Amino acid sequence: MNQTVLIIDFGGQYSQLIARKVRECQVYCEVLPWDTPAAAILEKKPVGLIFSGGPASVYEEGAPTVDPVLLLQGIPVLGICYGCQLMVRLLGGTVTRAEADSAREYGRTATEYDTGSPLFRALPAEGISWMSHGDYVSSLPEGFQVIASTEHCPNAGIACPEKQLYGLQFHPEVRHTENGVEMIRRFLYRICGTEGDWVLSGFAEQAIEKIRAEVGSSRVLLGLSGGVDSAVTAGLISRAIGRNLVCVYVDHGLMRKNESGQIERYYSGQDLQFVRVNEKERFISLLKGVTDPEEKRHVIGTEFVRVFKETARQLGGADYLAQGTIYPDVIESGSAGGHVIKSHHNVGGLPERFSFRGIIEPLRMLFKDEVRELGRSLGMPAEIVERQPFPGPGLAVRILGEVTVEKVDLLREADAIFREVMEKNRSIVTADQYFAVLTNMVTVGVMGDERSYQRAVALRAVSTEDFMTADFTRIPYEVLEEASRRIVNEVPGVNRVVYDITSKPPATVEYE
Ligand code: XMP
Repeated sequence: MNQTVLIIDFGGQYSQLIARKVRECQVYCEVLPWDTPAAAILEKKPVGLIFSGGPASVYEEGAPTVDPVLLLQGIPVLGICYGCQLMVRLLGGTVTRAEADSAREYGRTATEYDTGSPLFRALPAEGISWMSHGDYVSSLPEGFQVIASTEHCPNAGIACPEKQLYGLQFHPEVRHTENGVEMIRRFLYRICGTEGDWVLSGFAEQAIEKIRAEVGSSRVLLGLSGGVDSAVTAGLISRAIGRNLVCVYVDHGLMRKNESGQIERYYSGQDLQFVRVNEKERFISLLKGVTDPEEKRHVIGTEFVRVFKETARQLGGADYLAQGTIYPDVIESGSAGGHVIKSHHNVGGLPERFSFRGIIEPLRMLFKDEVRELGRSLGMPAEIVERQPFPGPGLAVRILGEVTVEKVDLLREADAIFREVMEKNRSIVTADQYFAVLTNMVTVGVMGDERSYQRAVALRAVSTEDFMTADFTRIPYEVLEEASRRIVNEVPGVNRVVYDITSKPPATVEYE
């Protein structure tokens, strides 16, 4: 069993990010909701606890809290923002609301560190940290000392080294905090004494062995979306049981250029049974007249599940259902124990009427980056392992207004050109996700000597760590120009290209 650090989640937006940073430091961790009983937390024998941030104020009625017994076990604790304030309050210090605006700190803040503390040892004594708080620690509990401060927050970092308790008012897990990951690493290695035993190399063999033991010679059904999670799930299960794995790929006709062909070619060469169901016409006809984004998603999601069920029935069913559930799905569903019911589209349901003997979810404790690493270690090709996120409803949610075959074809071409241009210019610009959107704007243009009245395509590219927040990518003008020129010249029906310069929030990555 790996040494485990537990992250107690107080509802902060960065809780998953903390977990990913801990895993990046090669330490296994899990995220548990704050109301998990102390006994259940201790039963997991954590070598360290991290209390996350959260939106509440510790002095509010009914604010999330933990059993103070957790602070008395000699287990090192790192409290971050709300987690720090909670620790202070539980131990008899005080937390106060910053009345003056000037005392509230949001964003990048110059911070001084006591490099004598093991948390900051051998790091610079000054740096930028990321603050986001309206409350502050106004008096320290007994035995605590200050280890970091800012202009408005004298107690930005506190510690009681004898009890191994540490608190930070700022967020070390956020990219904008200079050396933030190094602080987390120091907490893990110097304070919790972890040894960095979380390495994925042994994971695949163990997972394959476990699947083999559980499934035996039974049949497993898996829905492939073309995405990384279901692909790596297929990779593991196929290595365990070969052709007793039946993979069903429902082609709804809303995939990107050449994508379905690529998927078919790849899986047909693997040691598994691959079934492609072509239902392009069925989906397009159901989308006739549908313009509302949620309705589009619902129509596609429901039909997708229906097709999957029909196919499964035709294939004679299966004993087990496999899913590409990953750890963020588990955390978000608040399901520490049970299975997550995840459909391809996050709508509708699973084939609940099939009585599967069990559900196989080999990736349910892994983050996306780890799934990719695992896929690479299984020798899966980059086009699958490095694939950008793509919505289940496909191009339908990138076509504003009604979806028609003509619009899908047009968008597919424009999108392929944009992606090609971005890939060609990889040495000068990188983005975590990029694609084209067919807007419902029709504008006047002039081509040759002729007036045109055609559609506008929007280009979207974002840089992000977790897709919860995202910045629009600063694509150099010459790259945008190349994409724009090629799209207008090569895609009939488009006479204008715009680039979206909105970040998330307030916009989302997708348009629908
Ligand atoms: P938004 O638009 O919510 O998107 O900012 C965040 C990320 O999620 C992807 N996305 C989806 N992924 N099924 C998926 O598997 C979906 O239905 C879906 N909708 C959005 C989106 O591409 C972005 O990366």
